[in-house]
Amino acid sequence: MSIQANGRTPRQAFSLSPFQTRADLQQACIALLDPLIPRFTHGGSRVRIGTSTTRFDEGGAQIEGFARPLWGLSSLLAGGVQYAQAERWRTGLINGTDLQHPEYWGDIEDLDQRMVEMCPIGYALSVAPHVLWDPLTDSQKENVTRWLGSINSKEMPNTNWLWFRVFANLGLKKNGAAYSLERIEADMDHLDTFYVGGGWSNDGPKSHHQMDYYSGSFAIQFLQLLYSKLAADIDPERSVKYRGRAKEFAKDFVHYFDPSGHTIPFGRSVTYRFAMAGFWGAIAFADVELPAPLTWGVVKGLLLRHFRWWGKQEDIFNSDGTLNLGYAYHNMYLTENYNSPGSPYWCCLSFTPLALPESHPFWAAAEEPYPTASIPEVQRLDYPKHIAIRRGGHSFLLSSGQACHYAVRATQAKYGKFAYSSAFGYSVPTGGYELEQHAPDSMLALSEEGEIWKTRRLALNARFEEYDGAPVLVSDWQPWVDVSVETFLIPPEKESPNWHIRAHRVQAGRPLMSSEGAFAIYGCRSDSGRLLTPLTDSYPEGTLEGPLGGLAISAAGVVGICELQHVRREGRIVLADPNSNIVHGRTVLPSLAADIPPEKPLWFVTAVFAIPAWEEGWNKDWRMKWEKRPSLPEWLEKKIGAGA
Ligand SMILES: *[C@@H]1O[C@H](CO)[C@@H](O)[C@H](O)[C@H]1NC(C)=O
Ligand SMILES: *[C@@H]1O[C@H](CO)[C@@H](O)[C@H](O)[C@H]1NC(C)=O
Repeated sequence: MSIQANGRTPRQAFSLSPFQTRADLQQACIALLDPLIPRFTHGGSRVRIGTSTTRFDEGGAQIEGFARPLWGLSSLLAGGVQYAQAERWRTGLINGTDLQHPEYWGDIEDLDQRMVEMCPIGYALSVAPHVLWDPLTDSQKENVTRWLGSINSKEMPNTNWLWFRVFANLGLKKNGAAYSLERIEADMDHLDTFYVGGGWSNDGPKSHHQMDYYSGSFAIQFLQLLYSKLAADIDPERSVKYRGRAKEFAKDFVHYFDPSGHTIPFGRSVTYRFAMAGFWGAIAFADVELPAPLTWGVVKGLLLRHFRWWGKQEDIFNSDGTLNLGYAYHNMYLTENYNSPGSPYWCCLSFTPLALPESHPFWAAAEEPYPTASIPEVQRLDYPKHIAIRRGGHSFLLSSGQACHYAVRATQAKYGKFAYSSAFGYSVPTGGYELEQHAPDSMLALSEEGEIWKTRRLALNARFEEYDGAPVLVSDWQPWVDVSVETFLIPPEKESPNWHIRAHRVQAGRPLMSSEGAFAIYGCRSDSGRLLTPLTDSYPEGTLEGPLGGLAISAAGVVGICELQHVRREGRIVLADPNSNIVHGRTVLPSLAADIPPEKPLWFVTAVFAIPAWEEGWNKDWRMKWEKRPSLPEWLEKKIGAGA
């Protein structure tokens, strides 16, 4: 597919990797580290990559640039590679913890962002002490110990951050330096209260239902697995428990990966990119054998295919080879207020299997494909309240009830949408005015005047119901005090795999405008790069809009949306603002528009159509599939007829 960005980034060494062998992954890791070398400060304790800023201080931001690559570097070193530039990081560690040095990292304050960076530093001291600890003088070791240990007397947020203190202590413990066993135990006791079941932990207080990639790869499961290996001597009981949890969790988590290797993007911090697969690397690191069908060959495939998918996303780099902020390309709209230019290097945690020898079963096994035959196409995931679907050519989630526990930017887009797709990603708002900026893909947007649009953010009562033997996700939401919506999310049937259905019962106490979006799709023509125009017989790409719904077809595939009842909702193509979608910079959003009169409750029944371009033969039979609308489920018809 030819999808143009403005001036393609020069192809980087990382993107050239075949990601097949341990040696390939070593080279790919080095390909990420090399471009950082010119970015070190004079004293070596900071790495400066870009000019954008964060809610915390600039020093903290530059320490991220220094510390996060350590996930990869120390795994590489632990696996026996000699990387000459590693001494930069050693120098930085020495100078950064030296009170007298102008580049001293600073004393740790309560709730300090620097606490996060103690996690990769603690890990690095655990697995690569021969480079990062042993060569230090006693006084340098004392300085590192003092700085890391100072976290033990500070206040931390009530989230996965507590893990970072545990790892600071583990790094010290490994090297016989002073550490606090009491702190580890108290933090671990608290972290265990986040556990909800089925291997899943909530990220943060129970008042919020937040189970995203932090529950899996970015933090909790990932760090539990590392802990189960690194702390097996002091905490054998938990080590066993965490390995058990990982086995349960893996059965659910595999649904977030599609057979091609891409994940379903969902939630915050997606700029950590291939950190999303960190869980599979940690399974290997901790030597956990998973239940069938998740053999070592399958686990290896899940991780390596994921890297390969990212290898094809060549616009994730700045032209000097450093990673940019964004997802598939440079994009600030999706970032969080804590994403510094060095922040994406959290992705390096997926390199942990490099710490293992070539003889480890993970590396010794032959890679196996996604075990499609033994993983259900439609799976209800009770804990995160997702229905995972692998049908119609992509993997996607139906989602209800998730919410971030603080005011993360575009929170409704990251947690509140009805669907998230491995092919089409999701979109975030670029501004607060009109639909084009709100870019409400996979959402029902409501507005009083057509300027400010409200969508589902908090679902009040998300729950599963069963109809015709299939799971349906139901939720209530209340965008205004006098407006309530009950939403039913219905996975595709086998006979109509390209269609999922959403039904909404809307009761509005005021007149409203509405616009419901399908998935957003790449919106330019393959021949000219110009924006899609209405579909004609003379060119195979374009858009359709009108009483039969809205549809767009491009090099990325085809998406559409229509109303299944005799209710007038007009198909429209919303020209979503550039850079709203996290996968493609230029997208259009097929949508349905209708006015909602006050007082009387009404039903919308929306059918959403999608075929990604990687589905073979899609461009020959899409029209037949689009014209064959799914039927309104009987149970739903009854509900509507009953005037419920
Ligand atoms: C620390 O920083 C200084 C520059 O301020 C540098 O000359 C020195 O080599 C660095 N490393 C060590 C181990 O002191
Ligand atoms: C350790 O830090 C002290 C200041 O607390 C400093 O005087 C000393 O030079 C440092 N040691 C080394 C070896 O850098």
